[in-house]
Amino acid sequence: MTKLAANTIEVDAKWRSRHPTAPHLAGLDEFQSLYQDSIHNPSQFWAKQARELLSFDRDFHTTTSGSFHRGDAAWFLGGQLNACFNCVDRHAIQDPNRVGIIYEPDDPANDCRSITYGELLAEICQLAGFLRSQGVKKGDIVTIYMPMIPEAAIAVLACTRIGAVHSVVFAGFSAGALRDRIQDAKSTVIITTDEGRRGGKTISTKVVVDEAVRENHKISTVLVYERTGGQIPWMDGRDFRWKEEIQKYPAYISPEGMDSEDPLFLLYTSGSTGKPKGLLHTHAGYLLGASVTGKYVFDLNPQDRFFCSGDIGWITGHTYVVYAPLLLGSTTVMFEGTPTYPNHTRLWDVLEKHQATHFYGAPTSFRVLKALVDKADVENHDLSKLRALGSVGEPIAPEIWKWYHSFMGDGNACVTDTYWQTETGSHIIAAYTGVTPMKPGSASFPCFGIDVAILDPTTGEELQGNSVEGVLAVKKPWPSMARTIRGNHDRYLESYFNTYNGYYFTGDGAYRDADGYYWIRGRVDDVINVSGHRLSTSEIESALVEHESVAEAAIIGVPDDLTGQAVNTVVSLKSKQAAMNIEKELILQIRKVIGPFAAPKRVIILPDLPKTRSGKTVRRILRKALSGDTEFGDTSTLADPSVIDELTKILQKAD
Ligand code: WT7
Repeated sequence: MTKLAANTIEVDAKWRSRHPTAPHLAGLDEFQSLYQDSIHNPSQFWAKQARELLSFDRDFHTTTSGSFHRGDAAWFLGGQLNACFNCVDRHAIQDPNRVGIIYEPDDPANDCRSITYGELLAEICQLAGFLRSQGVKKGDIVTIYMPMIPEAAIAVLACTRIGAVHSVVFAGFSAGALRDRIQDAKSTVIITTDEGRRGGKTISTKVVVDEAVRENHKISTVLVYERTGGQIPWMDGRDFRWKEEIQKYPAYISPEGMDSEDPLFLLYTSGSTGKPKGLLHTHAGYLLGASVTGKYVFDLNPQDRFFCSGDIGWITGHTYVVYAPLLLGSTTVMFEGTPTYPNHTRLWDVLEKHQATHFYGAPTSFRVLKALVDKADVENHDLSKLRALGSVGEPIAPEIWKWYHSFMGDGNACVTDTYWQTETGSHIIAAYTGVTPMKPGSASFPCFGIDVAILDPTTGEELQGNSVEGVLAVKKPWPSMARTIRGNHDRYLESYFNTYNGYYFTGDGAYRDADGYYWIRGRVDDVINVSGHRLSTSEIESALVEHESVAEAAIIGVPDDLTGQAVNTVVSLKSKQAAMNIEKELILQIRKVIGPFAAPKRVIILPDLPKTRSGKTVRRILRKALSGDTEFGDTSTLADPSVIDELTKILQKAD
């Protein structure tokens, strides 16, 4: 029997007795022996999982090849399969009336919809037929710019049915950001909605798409799902109405056979430098990562109802709104709205209404809700079916973890903090639901097949044993890792494999405690995390210097009680005579170039940025000053130390 670590909360017998069948793992011992097996015999482990969890049209002959060093890791070679067949057909054949998607609209007064696997299959095939009619072929990239409605998942799966690659762009991105992603992907077909609804507000998706493609003459087709029926601009010949078009196509077309390593999707994310990176995921490995983690980390079963509040525009929405629940034949709850609309108990209302077994959300919303919700408001909700509560996107502080555990489902569900990234495709460190003794605030242990290392940040040496802190890396390839950055394999090697030779570098710092539990500390590069959104400081800085008045800009991530980190900007202007309302203008500039979610919380104008004599901006000082620290350390290396006095004056005034 494994010895339990101190300060952990054991999964109790009550949890097991509420389980509708039996958990996938009997307990910690089974978890540990499977984990050891996955690390010592990775080929056998993954081959067995792949054959159990995925349906291949043609079996693979080689489980894995390639290395980090060359950036050519590949899995399940020789195999052929179709993602849509795996997500939909398998279940539709068995039980066409099982519900695949439950749609919960923004306004609870509107009807929710349940879509069965049979219905999903028909609509996906019809849409796939339309896409083909527009010339979309295997390997073409279709851009999807849609809010959280079932049709977004249908669009994703229709692409995969015909072997097209989907590139979903979060519907909060501005027209400029969307334009860049469409161009990088060379998409000629875009799928969107007339409008969206979120938190009682209307989002003008079609208007943004029009603006994004205005000068792009390669766009042949904009397909519009009529979500609101609102008045929107229209271009005959290019724009098509979803409901009208798809009726013209048959309710069944056969799925395209895809090689295991054929591209499945592209998803753009922020790097520490330069423009967004289009990370490419491939078929078999990604699908297996989603299935294995869905099954074992979440203990997901076909009869379960999985409610993940992540947006389809981010990796969480890809892997845990669409792929994992559907691959495992369970029901995914797609929620269009926000946690606080029309009231603060909306998440509890949705969980109760749909009798969800799982909830998966982000600490940023837990922090907001903790401040708003009383126990009495939520106690009267029947969440007796809830077995698992996932957390993702940023570290979850122990007191927020405890609040989450006790406020959602009255302490009856297991909390799993899941650490992963767009690049990793699926969880790489997580507590296994019903298995791992829970330690509030810790992401717990590496997932199956993930060989994790903590490295000394300067020497790159692996730190052995427990109670060590450093940067987090992975030692061996795993199936669901991204294979490249579109159009720039060198940048892929540079970003992930060249910093620490022989390792995949996550960009995060981590601590392994005395019991071997992992604690994620946050990014050690120029990426900041605001409300679980990943932002690149250099990307925001370049958006700012595009503004005619700005000479230089520095973006600093400052700790924030609600959003984790907040964007603070420090700029110097070209002219001393600053325009009126320049702060507002700069906020607008960022909203326009990137999107509203990147808007800064604070804008500070300085005559010059603090720099060394060789002209390098000293961010360390800005970070300290903006975080409320009055000890700036050594300022003698500054070319002009008076800039700091100016900054201190501004900050004092603001207090
Ligand atoms: C970055 C990846 C993966 C889905 C959402 C974000 C941070 C993610 C955790 C966690 C601490 C976390 C890391 C990571 N992060 N999950 N459980 N604990 N930090 O995906 O946009 O690719 O961002 O989010 O800093 O590197 P992403």
